[in-house]
Amino acid sequence: MKLNLVCIPGDGIGPEIVAEAKKVLNRVAEKYGHEIIEKDILMGGASIDVHGVPLTEEAIAQAKAADAVLMGSIGGDTNTSPWYQLPPNLRPEAGLLALRKALNLFANLRPAYLYEELAAACPLKEEISRAGFDMLIMRELTGGLYFGERKTVEENGVRKAIDTLTYDENEIRRIAIKAFEVARKRRGKVTSVDKANVLDSSRLWRAVVNEVAADYPDVTLEHMLVDNCAMQLVKDPAQFDVILTENMFGDILSDEASMVTGSIGMLSSASLNDTKFGLYEPSHGSAPDIAGKNIANPIATVLSAAMMLRYSFDLDKEADAVEEAVRKVLKEGYRTADIMSEGCQKVSCSQMGDLLSERI
Ligand code: IPM
Ligand code: MG
Repeated sequence: MKLNLVCIPGDGIGPEIVAEAKKVLNRVAEKYGHEIIEKDILMGGASIDVHGVPLTEEAIAQAKAADAVLMGSIGGDTNTSPWYQLPPNLRPEAGLLALRKALNLFANLRPAYLYEELAAACPLKEEISRAGFDMLIMRELTGGLYFGERKTVEENGVRKAIDTLTYDENEIRRIAIKAFEVARKRRGKVTSVDKANVLDSSRLWRAVVNEVAADYPDVTLEHMLVDNCAMQLVKDPAQFDVILTENMFGDILSDEASMVTGSIGMLSSASLNDTKFGLYEPSHGSAPDIAGKNIANPIATVLSAAMMLRYSFDLDKEADAVEEAVRKVLKEGYRTADIMSEGCQKVSCSQMGDLLSERI
């Protein structure tokens, strides 16, 4: 099969972790007889430095023409990087948001899974981590506060900023359907997270999710308020299967969920539209503090590449092989610095990529 990919190495640790994911993908292609055609495009700070904007029209067109996009991470230190002296619409993150919107990537899937081998890195009490957990956050990605009208004005000498949270029923319905479909292939439970005790957008969210649920009698639905969900994630993460939520809540809860897995360096993600196209990226950021040191954990990006094989190319066997390689390497005791624990062998980012490739 021909895999027509666009890669976005991005900023910070992005180029290092994408290089390792490419290494693994090339090994998969070699072993299973596929051909990878890949092209790198610039986005985020890397694009600002060259083109003055975080994403060019040409880069969007190239991403659109691919079957899938594999991304590292974008952005820099918001306190020190000159990128953050630019107007907000020219900063690195604006490139990612523009790409999500241009490709209509409304469904963001973020699995959070506790590997047995990493239980020691889990910051929760042992009696909680012992039960393990395996959840998937289905985050709405092209609506809500991120894309509502915003402005900063001055009224009578007082500065005032406005962000708007808007959802229409169609936006809610399509992401709810994705959540129920995924739940069917998992343990059959959806927890829809909102703030329906305060927000109108959440009340509509709840009503539409209930309507969609009627078509999925085999899936259990529960509603949970977002503040309670934040608490439940550290109290009893095993209760969750699929968490369905809007853009901003999903951003926050997915970072929390990833942290309880032991390291944010382990979590993959897929951003999908209604076709087979997808953008795959680790859930973590660009970690500028450790960039260029060859110590980042490439596993989240490698697992994102596995999601790409599964969702965009239907290459389940190949995706399984990549996930199995991750499990093997962990079982054999190899760890990057972020997940290091006593008795294990510490390896660099590129060594981790080599070890993973060798196990495919
Ligand atoms: C994420 C990131 C992005 C987001 C930023 C970089 C705009 O935090 O993918 O979770 O908030 O969506
Ligand atoms: Mg985030």
